[in-house]
Amino acid sequence: MSAPLIVLVGPMGVGKSTVGQLLAERLGTGYRDTDEDIVAARGRTIAEIFVDEGEAAFRAQEKEAVRSALGEHDGVLALGGGAILDAETRALLAGQRVVYLSMDVEEAVRRTGLNVARPLLAVNPRKQWRELMEARRHLYEEVATVVVATDGRTPDEVTRAALDALELKET
Ligand code: S3P
Repeated sequence: MSAPLIVLVGPMGVGKSTVGQLLAERLGTGYRDTDEDIVAARGRTIAEIFVDEGEAAFRAQEKEAVRSALGEHDGVLALGGGAILDAETRALLAGQRVVYLSMDVEEAVRRTGLNVARPLLAVNPRKQWRELMEARRHLYEEVATVVVATDGRTPDEVTRAALDALELKET
């Protein structure tokens, strides 16, 4: 059984896919994303799953997607923003090299405020963000090996900061 080189966690819109792909490139490895795994397996968008099947059904699918990817993928793995809500998923992350990409609420609203594809933020994004981060911040911190702040940084700068924090060298 392999383990990912890096697992990325953090809220939606923080740049997990962009930074994850840059990290994979710099480290000469592959990139995988559990949201994409779910969409590919189900043939439906995340928004469609949320609306038609409900959040609980999505979370069950996400939990299985994360478990599979952690066992199969040895490159950079990005998890959906809410994956850390599950206690068993958090337990699986213990001992992994986990990077928490963080951003403050104002940055989050700027980046995702108008993105209707994200069903959790459809109405009153600033309030939703505040509540979401109050509920989740400690969970991201709990699983993180390192925390990398993304506010005011380009994806390239975030990537370099993550590699430095993990003491990993580019290939
Ligand atoms: C969610 C984040 C999304 C996606 C779903 C729920 C969340 O993933 O899994 O919309 O609960 O934060 P990204 O973080 O990749 O956008």
